[in-house]
Amino acid sequence: YEPWRDAASDHGVTMGFALSPQHLSIDGYRQVAEREFDLVVAENAMKWDATEPSRGAFSWGQADQVAAFAESIDADLYGHTLVWHSQLPGWVESISDPVELRTVMHDHIDAVAGRYAGQVDAWDVVNELWEGDGSRRQSVFQRVLGDGYVAEALTRARQAAPDADLCLNDYSTDAINAKSTAMYELVADLIDDGVPIDCVGFQSHLIVGQVPSSFQQNLQRFADLGVDVRITELDIRMNVPASAADLQRQAADYRAVVEACLAVDRCTGVTVWGIDDGHSWVPDVFSGQGAALPWDAQYQPKPAYSAVAEAL
Ligand code: XIL
Repeated sequence: YEPWRDAASDHGVTMGFALSPQHLSIDGYRQVAEREFDLVVAENAMKWDATEPSRGAFSWGQADQVAAFAESIDADLYGHTLVWHSQLPGWVESISDPVELRTVMHDHIDAVAGRYAGQVDAWDVVNELWEGDGSRRQSVFQRVLGDGYVAEALTRARQAAPDADLCLNDYSTDAINAKSTAMYELVADLIDDGVPIDCVGFQSHLIVGQVPSSFQQNLQRFADLGVDVRITELDIRMNVPASAADLQRQAADYRAVVEACLAVDRCTGVTVWGIDDGHSWVPDVFSGQGAALPWDAQYQPKPAYSAVAEAL
């Protein structure tokens, strides 16, 4: 197969992966990264705990490595993420004064989005703002600043990085359901209110055999609002050890996700959340599950790899 990135560019989409720069010293990892992908997102390095572990003290080492690697392979750089309840330092979590929290949020956005302005093509400005029932997640930002924090963060990000597309990103919003409908209504309201919003990310941390049948229709309804959509964190997990049949089912699922994106004009592409099964977040978080990525732990392509190549 030709590299994913070359096949994807014929469709006007990009193929991304979540990079942990410490893995670039592994030959197999680096070779796949360099050959296949034309978009890079930091798996952890641009999160709040990595970039501003204590107030006003920024640490850019890993984030800069991600940006430099993206540039070295002539890939887009995707920013993840500015405002999120998780991987958030305790010093932010404990702020209860709205004036203080607003300042802290603005300063963080100014510093991080500002540093990579002109380099980051699109930012996940707010990540995972919803509960499963479509109510607001009670993060510190929600509790202290109220619903308006999302618009405030987007507006601030536009000032800090005027050329970056600004996205909201979430999981379990891949199907048409209460959560994705809450996101849909919010995006419609933001557009109505003139708040800068350019894109919506669908994480798509899926389970084998469970690609939602409404996936494409869901992407399309967002696109019809006038925003770009992207599959931002794709992996498809299963119970391990995986059987050959599981891996074939997974391949069909990967193909279905890529085809859903290609069928929607404003879908900008697909990002996989890692490269290989040996370095995936899945086994750490979903016990007994794994084998979620297109390369195995020895960097051999799995059936999912070929299925994506054929879909492209
Ligand atoms: C995960 C990383 O993959 C892990 O290395 C880390 O320990 C926890 O976060 N949704 C997101 C991602 O938006 O940032 C998460 O990444 C996976 C779920």
